[in-house]
Amino acid sequence: MPTLQIAPSILAANFASLGASIALIEQEADVLHVDVMDGHFVPNLSLGPPVVAAIRSCTDLPLDCHLMMTNPGDYLDAFKKAGADSCTVHIEIGGTAELIALGRTLGLKIGLALNPDAKYDTVAPWLDQIDLLLCMTVFPGFGGQSFIGDVMETVAAARAEIDRRGLATIIQVDGGIDLNTVPTAAVAGATNFVAGTAVFGAADPAAAARALRQAAADAIAA
Ligand code: DX5
Ligand code: ZN
Repeated sequence: MPTLQIAPSILAANFASLGASIALIEQEADVLHVDVMDGHFVPNLSLGPPVVAAIRSCTDLPLDCHLMMTNPGDYLDAFKKAGADSCTVHIEIGGTAELIALGRTLGLKIGLALNPDAKYDTVAPWLDQIDLLLCMTVFPGFGGQSFIGDVMETVAAARAEIDRRGLATIIQVDGGIDLNTVPTAAVAGATNFVAGTAVFGAADPAAAARALRQAAADAIAA
């Protein structure tokens, strides 16, 4: 059984009481997913380094910052200083080699994200240079959207190549992950599951996170 990681997305948490929301899921989460939107790469705004620093002060969970930004290179240092453990940048913006190099220099783990309509071939050359491949299962910008199943072809292709080459690269899925879709993503080869609405929108967020982990494990074992 691979190591499965549940990454609640604080985008769906109560921003007026982030500390309390995080405390609810802390025992059931492996990572905290922090969605950063710049109003340019995606048509929405969310948060930046000051909020990451505030989150850092109230949890020891690794902070995984998903940078939906046109110019993440201008901010990697600020996110690192704010307490980010990993930063994921998008392949669509280009400059991937420089962004990976800058992230490494800063001591960050680096992820590479691709949108649902991007070709696997665009990320394949980077698999051995990143810590995490983020296969977006919705078009980024908003929580609460429906899972795009076609992305499982990308997940499966990445899983096959990562296993064949013996790489440690984590495959993360993000968008529309819930009890109905997490088995599909797990069987395709994802091991890191971002969930916003399905966790923080639940009456019992901790139980929801636990159930997601169990559903992923059950699907792989079946
Ligand atoms: C979308 C974000 C996601 C989002 C997922 O742009 O990258 O992380 O928070 O939300 P749900 O789980 O509600 O689809
Ligand atoms: Zn995200």
